[in-house]
Amino acid sequence: MSSALVVYRSHTGVTRRYGEEIAAHLKSRGLDAKVVSVGECDMTALADVDFLFLGCWTSGMFVVMQHPDGPWMSFVRDMPVVRGTAPNGTGKPKVALFTTYQLRTGSQFPKMRAALAGKVASPALELKSRNGALSDKDRRSLDEFVR
Ligand SMILES: Cc1cc2nc3c(=O)[nH]c(=O)nc-3n(C[C@H](O)[C@H](O)[C@H](O)COP(=O)(O)O)c2cc1C
Repeated sequence: MSSALVVYRSHTGVTRRYGEEIAAHLKSRGLDAKVVSVGECDMTALADVDFLFLGCWTSGMFVVMQHPDGPWMSFVRDMPVVRGTAPNGTGKPKVALFTTYQLRTGSQFPKMRAALAGKVASPALELKSRNGALSDKDRRSLDEFVR
């Protein structure tokens, strides 16, 4: 059975809901999926999973300067290198990013990618939602990602 870990940072709960919906969908596809907040995450568990989902709400000036918040950045700073050893830099765990927002995600994903560079394989999927609900498009993207 493939395993997935969904790690989220949420300020008011919307990103937590999105993370939970992602995990529920993965479970419906037969994966062993767990959801934790950045504060609850056991760093030693990160390297053991097949799929790692890293999510943070979008903070910024609504039209510009979007970025992950301090607690998410601290989580990434404290993370061990969990990058696969495949020659092309891919390998386990396969990584996806997710965020929730109101207006524009702008530089949110580029900032998340920059913070994670060298720690995990280059993220192969980005998911975003305004209300934390999984869309049909998200479900199709997830199915493709874990195939
Ligand atoms: C201080 C602050 C800054 C925000 N900046 C942005 C922004 O730049 N772009 C955007 O689309 N939404 C922005 N939002 C909206 C949040 O990203 C959105 O409400 C998100 O779903 C909150 O997730 P959470 O409930 O997991 O904390 C901002 C919200 C706050 C409180």
